[in-house]
Amino acid sequence: MLKRINHIAIAVPDVQIAAATYREMLDAKVSAPQALPEHGVTVVFVELPNSKVELLEPLGADSPLVKFLARYPTGGMHHICYEVDDLLAARDRLVAGGARVLGGDEPQIGAHGKPVLFLHPKDFFGTLIELEESSRRSGAAV
Ligand code: CO
Repeated sequence: MLKRINHIAIAVPDVQIAAATYREMLDAKVSAPQALPEHGVTVVFVELPNSKVELLEPLGADSPLVKFLARYPTGGMHHICYEVDDLLAARDRLVAGGARVLGGDEPQIGAHGKPVLFLHPKDFFGTLIELEESSRRSGAAV
């Protein structure tokens, strides 16, 4: 079911500081911050040869990251995003196996404009999992 890792997301209290740390200490290629108000985050992309890391700062009081950062004030790994070929087939198999999909079973449009689902961290060893349909299948939705 799982293909490549699309991204690993790290929640941070200050995305400018996190971006500077990745750029200067880790010598990483880092994008400019982008505000995504519909997702409640400001994101910086750290480009790696085989994948990317997303540094996420909460944007707005309703951000899904507010509670997470209250628990982990210095930041922490928030989720890992795997690509799948067929999101609905993956969902059906996971739900049949007892996994819980967050926010209802219907895919939402994620931060990259592609359909995504989030799986309950308690079903996967404490890790929030995002599934994203890979580009080959998402076609016009990109
Ligand atoms: Co993500």
